Parts: sequence; structure tokens; C-alpha cells
Amino acid sequence: MRQTTLAACWGEYRFSGLPPTLEGLLQVLALRDQDTQGHTQRVTGITVLLARKLSVPESEIDLIRQGAMLHDIGKIGIPDSILLKPGELTPEEWVIMKKHPLYAYRILSRIEHLKPAFEIPLYHHEKWDGSGYPTGLKGEGIPFAARLFTFSDVFDALTSDRPYRKAWSRGRISKPRWGLPLTRASRQFSNA
Ligand SMILES: [Fe+2]
Repeated sequence: MRQTTLAACWGEYRFSGLPPTLEGLLQVLALRDQDTQGHTQRVTGITVLLARKLSVPESEIDLIRQGAMLHDIGKIGIPDSILLKPGELTPEEWVIMKKHPLYAYRILSRIEHLKPAFEIPLYHHEKWDGSGYPTGLKGEGIPFAARLFTFSDVFDALTSDRPYRKAWSRGRISKPRWGLPLTRASRQFSNA
């Protein structure tokens, strides 16, 4: 039977018997930046849940799951002084940080069985209006998997605690007064 709850998807992330190469890459990133692990688990769960709700074939969901888990693997190539910097990045540091999707593609394109999962790691910072990076793709030119992931990423950001605000409840997100900010956020992945 298909698992359709978020909790089930999180469990799946932890116990699905990941390919050793994938597990190793995730461990490397977790050792570099421990804050990313919980975020990766949540966003992967949400992305898989959404994909199933949209009736994406199970064979494609496997690639989406792998791509979501590996979305920030390119940060392995970002220096600690930037990756772990507690404050705002300078414009020069942003130039370096914005290379992480390309680093991800360089890593994954060399591992044959992970190569098909490159779309989310390479395109997860593209925006619907073309203002994203690294390629400036816009609209439906952005691969579907990457748009699905970006939606999940925004949802996770709004429903997680931040140093400057508490997490929004799901009830708060659904209230009409938040319709405008949510619409603006959604323009990262859709023109809706
Ligand atoms: Fe990223």
C-alpha cells in the first residue's frame, strides 16, 4: 500500500536502504553542516508526499526522492568560512555560494546511477520569473521536479522556527490574510 502521510515519508527517508554511495555523500554533507540534516529530511518528505498526491509514477518518485536528498550536496565545495558563516554573506561570498548547484551536477554526473537525479540539485534555486541561479531558467522551462521541490522548500521555511520568528502553523498559512505573501513565495515555482 502506498504511504501518503508526511510521517511515513520521513520514516521512508531514514529506513529505505539507500544506495551506499548516496548514504556516503549525505554523511559527508551532514558532517560539514549539521544544521542541514533535519531540513533535508523534512523537505524530502514533503516533496515525495506532493509528488504522490499529483500521481507522479513511482519510478519518477525514486529519482525525485534521491534528488531532494542530494539537493545541497554541492555545498561540499563551499569553504567553511562561507558555508558556516553566522551573519549575512557579502556579494563576493554570494558569488561563491551560488556555485553549489553546479558543483552538485559535477559530482552527480560522475556517478552513473545517481546521474538521473540531477534536476533538483542543479535547478532548485531557479525562480519562475527567471531571477534565480545558476542558469536563469524561467517558468515551465524549470524542470517539474525542481519546481515541486521549491514549493516544499518554501513550505518548510514558513513552518519552521527561525531566529527572527516562530514557525507558522498550518492553520495560519491557510488564512486568507496570508494569501498575498504565499502567492509571492509561490512565484518561485509557479505563476499561479
Ligand atoms: Fe541550495
